Amino acid sequence: MTRHALALALIAGSLAACQTTAPASQQAVQPDPPAFVEAACGGCHAVEPPFLSPNPGAPSFEAIANREGLSEDTLGAWLKDAHNYPEIMDFDLSAEQADEIAEYMITLRRGDYRQVK
Ligand code: HEC
Repeated sequence: MTRHALALALIAGSLAACQTTAPASQQAVQPDPPAFVEAACGGCHAVEPPFLSPNPGAPSFEAIANREGLSEDTLGAWLKDAHNYPEIMDFDLSAEQADEIAEYMITLRRGDYRQVK
């Protein structure tokens, strides 16, 4: 990095630190799904609120995330093993993509979710 760029980065950092916290309405907002997810899954699954799946047979990502017994690990493992997929889901994900999806989907859990072993 050039000195100039470093200075700019430092300024940007201190500006961010001065900003007041976001209003409460923004803090509750879900993170956006990784960009490739809408393209790869969004044709059938509802990947974002309001969770109305284009394909009624495909559970919304929220419904999947709130299923009992599911964890980021089990979901990631399932996504890495394409042999488990419903036949209609005809694609392969890289391990990184599977992890990213699992990480995102877990954020869709409702507050009252309880892990059942
Ligand atoms: C062509 C349509 C289609 C696409 C694209 C698709 N799915 Fe699905 N998916 C389905 C359907 C239909 C089901 C439900 C099958 C069933 O219940 O038998 C399903 C089920 C699932 C399930 C639940 C499995 C279970 O335990 O019941 C997960 C998790 C899932 N999909 C993840 C994904 C992810 C992640 C993507 C994108 C990378 C994706 N799907 C893309 C159609 C699709």
